[in-house]
Amino acid sequence: MQYLDYGWRSYDMNFSKIEEVCIGIFDSGVGGLTVAAQIKKFIPNSRIIYIGDSARVPWGVRSPRVVNEFASQLLKFLETKGVSHIVVACHTASAVALPLLRRIAKVPITGVIEPTVDFIVKSHNGRIGVLATPTTIASGVWEKAIKRKNKKIKVLSKAAALLVPIVEAGLEDHKVAHLLVKEYITPFIRIRRGIDTLVLACTHYPLLLPVFRKMLPDIKLVNPGEVTAEHLASVIGNGIKSNSKDEFYFTDLSETVKNQVKRFFDSEASYLKEVKVDDVLNVRWMKFN
Ligand code: DGL
Repeated sequence: MQYLDYGWRSYDMNFSKIEEVCIGIFDSGVGGLTVAAQIKKFIPNSRIIYIGDSARVPWGVRSPRVVNEFASQLLKFLETKGVSHIVVACHTASAVALPLLRRIAKVPITGVIEPTVDFIVKSHNGRIGVLATPTTIASGVWEKAIKRKNKKIKVLSKAAALLVPIVEAGLEDHKVAHLLVKEYITPFIRIRRGIDTLVLACTHYPLLLPVFRKMLPDIKLVNPGEVTAEHLASVIGNGIKSNSKDEFYFTDLSETVKNQVKRFFDSEASYLKEVKVDDVLNVRWMKFN
């Protein structure tokens, strides 16, 4: 599998020597907590070190150049924490920054798109909707990756710029969230024969899962965070129980961020800290230049 090429082979060979599976996860904000929660579910013994760039969210409306820059900064920050793997939870970064990240990383990296594409092509669904950020959709990565594996699958993509701010503001139950989801899914159901599967291709969208389920009761909803976590578990196993706490870093530790972390993770078993963007940048220059 192409996405396991970087470093996995050597990691597999040395597996018995690794004492702790410490997974670094990064995202543009709180959305990646949905991926972190799935990793904890499928690999319960893993230790997690998470960084969310809440001071600079959203990334999904920025150019590939800026996403590459932000993503490589967070990757280097995680490497200074001694992680054994990195999961690029952010779909936008997985879409546009993986080649660069794989070039500069010292540890194996998994993005969320490749395992999900494998999952989709193995399932028997033929009409796939992909809802994602504008930068992910503009990259065309989903269509290319699915078509490369199965030309017969129809892929319909739609950019949904406004769902991320709704989730970052903690407004998943607000009527505006319902209105926006309805607006964004309408093109998928209006077309002839519609879609049979919808990929929630942004870390923030699974936080709106109840709204999607209510509006699309007959359509299979795919959460790439879940697929990626299951895939990772199949590669690295269950790990070895760690006594160290999980660590959550955010570049802006607002009350909304604190509440979202509490919603997913036990505060007794984790540290929650703020790290200033400047300090993330300094890490890069101090330790790696
Ligand atoms: N986390 C990003 C992703 O999954 C989206 C949020 C953003 O726009 O920052 O694509």
